[in-house]
Amino acid sequence: MLMELAIIDGKYFLSYEQIHSTIRKLAEEIRSDGFEPDVIVAIGTGGYIPARILKTFLKKPILTVGISYYGPDNKPAKTPHTIQWIDEVEKKLAGRKVLLVDEVDDSRVTLEYCLRELLRHGAQEIAIAVLHNKNKEKRGTIPPEITRYWAGQELEDRWICYPWDAEDIEAHQRKAQPAQQGFAARV
Ligand code: G4P
Ligand code: MG
Repeated sequence: MLMELAIIDGKYFLSYEQIHSTIRKLAEEIRSDGFEPDVIVAIGTGGYIPARILKTFLKKPILTVGISYYGPDNKPAKTPHTIQWIDEVEKKLAGRKVLLVDEVDDSRVTLEYCLRELLRHGAQEIAIAVLHNKNKEKRGTIPPEITRYWAGQELEDRWICYPWDAEDIEAHQRKAQPAQQGFAARV
């Protein structure tokens, strides 16, 4: 399924509808690869909405962890850090098949940090699903224990404007219509 994405001033603009259908396709791939998670772990905050949409298709419960690359003052930090980590999450991972969900695999540093934390808690398997992977050199690495990885779409290394970040959703939605834009990418 090819999809046209709007590019404005070098940035991708995505609609909720496009994201929903990308996640439906992602869920189909996960299922057809034979992976049935016991639990979805969403990395907040970017992973919350994708994880919730994924739950519509995979019908599995969601646990959340909050990991951010930005500090409390909203300035980028040198390393990711934990905003919220629930003891319950750790207890619920032992022996389980976990699907870790985030919106974007960018530098991969947050993902690596989160995977290393999760790997300490005895999950049977941890697999990764991201809505978007940016094709670029990654600073983080996926530990070798992790062998399954799905990305809804592979994108160029451009800034992605997600609808949940929009203060004016109508304006965002207009921008996300590729047919009305001069420049669109087919992915
Ligand atoms: P990664 O390890 O998953 O690749 O992410 P990385 O640490 O490189 O990303 C740093 C932060 O920048 C993350 O936010 C990520 O969501 C955000 N980010 C990276 N590329 C884009 C993009 O193209 N568009 C948008 N909107 N965000 C991007 P965070 O610290 O996890 O905060 P939160 O937004 O999840 O709360
Ligand atoms: Mg994030």
